[in-house]
Amino acid sequence: MPASALMNVMVGAARKAGRSLARDFGEVEQLQVSLKGPANFVSAADHRAEDIIFTELSRARPGYGLLMEERGEVKGADTTHRWIVDPLDGTTNFLHGIPIFSVSIALERDGELVAGLVYNPATDETFTAEKGKGAYINDRRRLRVAARSELAASVIGTGIPHAGRPNHELFLKELRAVMSASAGVRRMGSAALDLAWTAAGRLDGFWEHGLRAWDIAAGIVILREAGAYVSDIADKDEMLETGSIVAGNETIHAKLLKLLKAAGKNVPIADTVTKTAAAK
Ligand code: IPD
Ligand code: CA
Ligand code: CA
Repeated sequence: MPASALMNVMVGAARKAGRSLARDFGEVEQLQVSLKGPANFVSAADHRAEDIIFTELSRARPGYGLLMEERGEVKGADTTHRWIVDPLDGTTNFLHGIPIFSVSIALERDGELVAGLVYNPATDETFTAEKGKGAYINDRRRLRVAARSELAASVIGTGIPHAGRPNHELFLKELRAVMSASAGVRRMGSAALDLAWTAAGRLDGFWEHGLRAWDIAAGIVILREAGAYVSDIADKDEMLETGSIVAGNETIHAKLLKLLKAAGKNVPIADTVTKTAAAK
């Protein structure tokens, strides 16, 4: 399927930022042995990638608003369009030389997510989708969510809260439930990529709490176009607002949601994390 003009803009921006990240990732691998570690260097790499995406998107679509992890909200003259961008999702992996990280770019039109792209520069895999046009990997193979209907045969992805993040008790209860019911639980370290992998059928389902809009906006479009069901933990379409997400095919989504709700019964959820709480 030939890429649209819009998708060409998104792919161009993501690949340019990806080249910068890939170069910096090579450096990070060298820096592992230094005592101070590559933290400052990684933060600079993150900002460099965001600057590239900001420049590319603003040049191609002047006036569109932006919500970017590092810059925050940038208002545009065109109030109907907003890019939602995470220039580097999977920072902890990047910092530790683990080649699982991504660039995530989504477009919202009149408050609705209409296009999404997740790019992993380390594997050169690009996952894209536009509303109503299907989801693709590297512009050639159509993505379909996995068909498995039994949780016992399913591999489920998640994100584990860490120091400085809420919901530790909730996660442990949920994990206990999912590990007993599934064929395995995975924590890959990039929520955007986790969602793309679920759309590609690599993971049968996914759940996480405490995410931000830029972690999941692109993945949501890709999942939906791959035939997945996506909701927040209350089975509502308020993932960007609440920061919780549950995804899978229709059956796995329903089973996972039921399991998670039962496991988290009476455990309060701290919803969307604040930027301060999220700071590493
Ligand atoms: C993080 C990743 C991770 C998820 C965290 C996110 P970052 O984003 O998506 O998989 O578990 O909650 O904050 O900080 O690497 O951009
Ligand atoms: Ca992120
Ligand atoms: Ca990030």
